[in-house]
Amino acid sequence: MSPVSMTPDADGFITGQRQHWETTLQMNPQMYGVDPSEPGRYAVSRFVTEKLTRVLELGAGQGRDTLGLLGAGLEVTALDYATGPLAGIVDSATDAGLAGRLTTLTHDVRRPLPFDDASFDACYSHMLFCMALTSDELAALAGEVRRILRPGGLCIYTVRHFGDAHYGAGPDLGDNLYENGGFVVHFYDRQLVDRLAEGFEIEDITAFEEGDLPRRLWRITMRQL
Ligand SMILES: C[S@@+](CC[C@H](N)C(=O)[O-])C[C@H]1O[C@@H](n2cnc3c(N)ncnc32)[C@H](O)[C@@H]1O
Repeated sequence: MSPVSMTPDADGFITGQRQHWETTLQMNPQMYGVDPSEPGRYAVSRFVTEKLTRVLELGAGQGRDTLGLLGAGLEVTALDYATGPLAGIVDSATDAGLAGRLTTLTHDVRRPLPFDDASFDACYSHMLFCMALTSDELAALAGEVRRILRPGGLCIYTVRHFGDAHYGAGPDLGDNLYENGGFVVHFYDRQLVDRLAEGFEIEDITAFEEGDLPRRLWRITMRQL
């Protein structure tokens, strides 16, 4: 299928994706469930073991993993460009008595991260790196994550890859971006994982599945050099 005439980094298109996420998450309050995901549980275990307490979560969504990170005693900054779900995370954390260690921030990761250099011990991100972001935008984001992590800090992120059933389905936007059900997904090959690892050492890449489709993902663990 040949690329359609949509430019992922055009302003109108970005706004469209943000509104689509805001509306979809509002209409589906438990879109991904309330229990922590498999990579979320893995991240908690790695961060606690290494005493990495200051955690930045990118693309927190409705917070199924945010609550797990907070519950493990970590300080979490949960970032997303959808505002409504972030407010829901604050409510859930307040109900659970965990809001004291939570900061939320509405922010589009296409922009530089508004944090000081080396201000976090770890970054966790489940399915944000496979959103409507071009390869160049992803490389810039990975560079920002490297900048805000302290030396030796860990980054654990997940992405859908070429083995996913939706890879190649729906309108082809170029750069391995495909649109499905109104959502744009960037599907990964190993080359892109390696490109985003500049300034990091990749420790582990684990394939896993999630959901009914199922989504086929990689969980990447890399350490800031
Ligand atoms: C697939 S959902 C995953 C949510 C959550 N991590 C989970 O697994 O339950 C992706 C999230 O990324 C957010 N997102 C997508 N593009 C973004 C961007 N450019 N900047 C910030 N957040 C973005 C969406 O609003 C959504 O909450």
